[in-house]
Amino acid sequence: GDNINDIIDHKLFSEDDIHEMCVRLGAQLTKDYAGKRPLVVGALKGAIYFLTDLTRQMDVAHQLDFLDVSSYGDGFESTGKIKVVTDLAADVKDRDVLIIEDIVDTGLTLKFMKDLIKKRGAKSVKCCAMLNKEARRNVDVDVDYFGSKVGNEFVVGYGLDFLNMYRNLPYVGVLKPEVIQKYVNK
Ligand code: PRP
Ligand code: MN
Ligand code: MG
Repeated sequence: GDNINDIIDHKLFSEDDIHEMCVRLGAQLTKDYAGKRPLVVGALKGAIYFLTDLTRQMDVAHQLDFLDVSSYGDGFESTGKIKVVTDLAADVKDRDVLIIEDIVDTGLTLKFMKDLIKKRGAKSVKCCAMLNKEARRNVDVDVDYFGSKVGNEFVVGYGLDFLNMYRNLPYVGVLKPEVIQKYVNK
């Protein structure tokens, strides 16, 4: 059915696991960005759940902004073509920019965002991602901070979506293969 618990095969990262990631990364970012007043950029839409929990573990004065450069659209496979859907409001010139991501997969989205922000004259551009799906990397891009590596499984929840659904699951789970099949065969 459409019940969120019916689409999960198994849980991969619990709410406690994610909280621990946020505490650890928040402490590290607090050290690394001390006195820098960074611009924290949430990559819409997947990053919003991780961003709100992570930034509340950062004892650093910072400003928030958002950037939407979706490449997947509402689909579940990267089109490889990235476009700016909603641009930043802030001027990034001379700023220390910290991009927040839910997951880095092929790396295309992150590379596009980093290149865009560097080109506009940022002083530094780094990324903190919840999950790093290294096995799928297509382009050379640094994921400067991450909560955990993840294998090549279809993960949803805590911001991660399937067809723009299931982001609100409070943990990260692996999608049942039959859920994917149901849509692939349509
Ligand atoms: C997902 C995810 C990352 C990106 C990772 O976003 O949130 O931003 O894909 O994939 P990549 O490393 O292969 O580029 P998506 O484009 O699906 O938009 P969303 O955040 O709105 O789900
Ligand atoms: Mn995203
Ligand atoms: Mg997506």
